[in-house]
Amino acid sequence: MRCTKLSLFLFTLVILGCNDNQIVEQPVAYNHTVHLTEAGMDCIDCHLGAETKIHATLPSIKQCKSCHSKSKTESSAEKMVVDAVLSGAEIPWNRIYNLPDHVFFSHRRHVKAGQVACSVCHGEVEKLTKPPSKMIVPISMDTCMNCHDNKSISNDCLTCHV
Ligand code: HEC
Ligand code: HEC
Ligand code: HEC
Ligand code: HEC
Ligand code: HEC
Repeated sequence: MRCTKLSLFLFTLVILGCNDNQIVEQPVAYNHTVHLTEAGMDCIDCHLGAETKIHATLPSIKQCKSCHSKSKTESSAEKMVVDAVLSGAEIPWNRIYNLPDHVFFSHRRHVKAGQVACSVCHGEVEKLTKPPSKMIVPISMDTCMNCHDNKSISNDCLTCHV
């Protein structure tokens, strides 16, 4: 049973190919630094699932409303957010960190149970004054397995591959 599942999985991977660290652009020039310093916010104020769910999630426009219902500066990026808040439109953020469907990863498991800090996997996000165009710390099968090795967590293929 286990063997059949594994060969099916390997077969699927040959078809899917590999996942490169491609350049991603964002619709609005979002700035992490001002929100984490000047606005005093925390990661989970916007990435709602990062401690409690499988997916961290990208913010919905509801998370911007309390501070951006009118422009306080000349920033054109801020104006785009205010326009979205007023019309109720979602900003279509693009994913950078996006594992192929055959890999299982849970934020809750790592952040809560494993006590791994966001920065270990995502780098120094508080220094980002504009959206990153690719993964700051590249995540690959090797980076997953190296940490699992160090912490004596299972590296059986079926731990991560579904
Ligand atoms: C005020 C809301 C807000 C806060 C607070 C915030 N973020 Fe973000 N984050 C965003 C938005 C919007 C994006 C998409 C635009 C971008 O990449 O800059 C994003 C993107 C990201 C991404 C890239 C995800 C992907 O796959 O595209 C990571 C990783 C991330 N944030 C981590 C963090 C961490 C870690 C913290 C806390 C240190 C944090 N964020 C705090 C709003 C926020
Ligand atoms: C052990 C490594 C690791 C840690 C720790 C970690 N992440 Fe992630 N993060 C990932 C991986 C891997 C993905 C891609 C997941 C996928 O595609 O299913 C990801 C994806 C994301 C995304 C993209 C959107 C989404 O729903 O997946 C955001 C935003 C994010 N992480 C924020 C955070 C924040 C905030 C923290 C800390 C509270 C954090 N991450 C901790 C590895 C990590
Ligand atoms: C708790 C209040 C607060 C929340 C919530 C908030 N912001 Fe901000 N934001 C600020 C402050 C403070 C500034 C800096 C001063 C200003 O431009 O008003 C700022 C500035 C900005 C700017 C202009 C940045 C620049 O460098 O030009 C953008 C874009 C922005 N925010 C996007 C967002 C988005 C998108 C969300 C929702 C995901 C959000 N903000 C949620 C407080 C907030
Ligand atoms: C920096 C260290 C670190 C990195 C990087 C890391 N992990 Fe983990 N992982 C852990 C820890 C610690 C646990 C155990 C958490 C607990 O106590 O439940 C864990 C547990 C797991 C589990 C549950 C294991 C089980 O036996 O039930 C899976 C699945 C998993 N990780 C997948 C991944 C994937 C996929 C990646 C890469 C995208 C990854 N991990 C990267 C530290 C890490
Ligand atoms: C700790 C988690 C983890 C374990 C254990 C693991 N993998 Fe992976 N594997 C991943 C991640 C994450 C990716 C996606 C990498 C990417 O998108 O760059 C991946 C991708 C792959 C790929 C696709 C090729 C590629 O580089 O993207 C193959 C083939 C693969 N794994 C085979 C295996 C085999 C065989 C085993 C058992 C010996 C195994 N994996 C164990 C996390 C893991």
